[in-house]
Amino acid sequence: MDTEPRFFETNGPGTGGVVGQPLNRVDGHDKVTGKARYSAEFPQQGLVYGVLKGSEIAKGKIQSIDTTAAMKEPGVLAVLTHQNLPKLAKTPNSPEGKKAIGAPMGFLPLTSDTVHYAGQPVALVVADTFERATHAASLVRVQYAAEKPLASYQDPKAELFNPEKVQDGKTDGFTRRGDARAALAAAPVKHTATYTHAINHHNPMEPGSTTAVWEAPDRLTVYESTQGITRTQKSLATMLGLPLEQVRVVTKYLGGGFGCKGSSWPHTVLTVQAAKAVNRPVKLVLTRQQMFTGMGHREDQTQTLQIGATREGKLLALVHEKTSTTSPWDNYAEPNSRIINLLYACPTFESSYKLARANVMTSTFTRAPGEAPGSFAIECSMDDIASQLGIDPLEIRLRNYAEKDPTNGKPWSSKSLKQCYARGAELFGWSKRNPQNGATRDGKYLVGYGMATASYPVHNSQGTARVRLYADGHAVVQSGATDLGTGTYTVMTQVAADTLGLTPDKVRFELGDSRLPTAPNSGGSVAGGTVSSSVYVAAQEVWQKLKKLAIADKKSPLYRAKLEDVVVEKNRMVLKTNKQKGEDFMALMKRNEMSDIEGTGNGKYGAGYESGLAAGGADSGHQDDMAGHSMHSFGAHFCEVRVDAEFGTVRVTRWVSVHAAGRILNAKTARSQIIGGSIFGIGAALMEETFRDPNFARYTNASLGEYHIPVNADIPEMTVEFIEEHDPYINAMGVKGIGEISMVGVSAAVANAVFHATGKRVRDLPITPDKVM
Ligand code: MOS
Repeated sequence: MDTEPRFFETNGPGTGGVVGQPLNRVDGHDKVTGKARYSAEFPQQGLVYGVLKGSEIAKGKIQSIDTTAAMKEPGVLAVLTHQNLPKLAKTPNSPEGKKAIGAPMGFLPLTSDTVHYAGQPVALVVADTFERATHAASLVRVQYAAEKPLASYQDPKAELFNPEKVQDGKTDGFTRRGDARAALAAAPVKHTATYTHAINHHNPMEPGSTTAVWEAPDRLTVYESTQGITRTQKSLATMLGLPLEQVRVVTKYLGGGFGCKGSSWPHTVLTVQAAKAVNRPVKLVLTRQQMFTGMGHREDQTQTLQIGATREGKLLALVHEKTSTTSPWDNYAEPNSRIINLLYACPTFESSYKLARANVMTSTFTRAPGEAPGSFAIECSMDDIASQLGIDPLEIRLRNYAEKDPTNGKPWSSKSLKQCYARGAELFGWSKRNPQNGATRDGKYLVGYGMATASYPVHNSQGTARVRLYADGHAVVQSGATDLGTGTYTVMTQVAADTLGLTPDKVRFELGDSRLPTAPNSGGSVAGGTVSSSVYVAAQEVWQKLKKLAIADKKSPLYRAKLEDVVVEKNRMVLKTNKQKGEDFMALMKRNEMSDIEGTGNGKYGAGYESGLAAGGADSGHQDDMAGHSMHSFGAHFCEVRVDAEFGTVRVTRWVSVHAAGRILNAKTARSQIIGGSIFGIGAALMEETFRDPNFARYTNASLGEYHIPVNADIPEMTVEFIEEHDPYINAMGVKGIGEISMVGVSAAVANAVFHATGKRVRDLPITPDKVM
């Protein structure tokens, strides 16, 4: 099979196009001038404000609710509780309902008197101002019959169980490859370690928000802060019992999400119901405190990893066990074992999951769900074994390099990890590393070098886009995607410009509206590849129509040419054999009195370069490749820390990340994406931690004052590079996506650097001074 890179016929990357160039964000000006409308900023006639009141207890029953005082306040329109909220057509509270709704959220509050978690909405107050609604919510009096809650799997009373499936049913709860237990028992080198990960919250700058507008009793528009308008539309339509087309979801800009906006959460449908009840548009914005119980989190978890190896450091066995907390109604666990099974060549593998129900909101996708904490375990253990056997950490990874996918034996569609290691080591100066732990000093600081491998799968996904090309030489390109702030608007503009032969200023890319062609969630690193491929394929349809028009047009220089002999060069269609002969689309369209022409495209996972309607009769893709190849991105992080030996404080002082993720659509936004993900990982490594009180199952630091995240002063200048990859199998654009891989391995790279600096191995995240001292 042809695995040589094939470039676009148009002026694509490799031929001087705009794809890949570090184009400034096309939405940058609108953002800095305040013109960009975030979901809570759409003005509405007669808008009123919703405020949630959360439960003070984490478990029990509501005995009574007294809303008298709240209702007497000026401006208050309604106090909605489980007693007076209209019923929905379907709720996620039953397994059938949950399946129909198609959303991970498996429990809707305000449907009964049961309290499952602290902060669970027990009342929704609607008033004419936000302040009045907030004050009235404070006057709602609730009497509870409280029971003692469970706070986590660590409670001795917690009942552990093995889920059949984890992470929303997508990953097996139990995986086995060969006999890992026997291989472990027989291995000359054995290593066992237990790792814990704190509860982390996403804390996007923009909190969750819903503005619900009923245009008619059965027609709704929702301005929502979500990573997935299609998922939100479907879940709302199902819950309300409305046809999809009568529910419109709009999300033009997002101030981050990191996974917490990838699901439908209770506040959305509750706001919609409130708008119905008061017959006015209602806006509800979660407070920062409510973000800690309203939109999921990364779960508290323990992993035990047992490794068997040869004395040369070659892996023989991996046995992984994870225990974590889930909610009373969902079986959610991040699939940590996925990366542990995949990262290195190892003949045997076993993994299992245990969950305990506790009185907490369901945990959810959090940037690199599973891969981030899973890589912490394996990448620290690999480092330990290297240290124990006197092997350089980079060398042990090369000795275990997986030339094919160890989980299924399939060849990689592409893998440039060796190049990532080599380039990262060179940029970082890895060869200067003192093999001795705790032996490098700079004044009062202990200096450490650490590194780790990163990987993330290309998930199965597909989407659609529409291209409308105008005879005056501009184009409007649309897809119902969202832009988390990472650059969807910009990169899709670049792809459209290249495939249509236009400059980016002649392209307008529109997203964030369920009326546009359907696109997947911006999550799981799929948006970049899927939406760009959709745009590419849609543009090919436009060209195909134009070519047909040209060869049938007596006045065209291409009249009577064979379709397969006509190729596209920038904005011109020309003869393959004589590129002087041809014309641009504007001339052709004007002569035919066409104002515009439209094409649609379906970007598919596994379809390969130039799939579908690829111009010039190129082959129709690699049908079998989805089954034939394993598709993943890879990378490496290198970290230098300086540890204050007296205070135990850790400072990251240098950082290098090198990734290979297929085609990079924009060098600048991609670099920013990797920097952002690495900072997210450094936060998890050194400071991020939500405390849940073990007696009351309530968060004690639910604010950005007490939940610490890195600020500028915590982060050094970071070096980011990409290894160029031309992967012909992934999708039409050869894009693997970079949203998640940016933080995989980051916490391990930091922990390994701390180990190298101090000789102390900290296996409990975050690595706070008390653990280092
Ligand atoms: Mo990502 S955790 O799927 O937003």
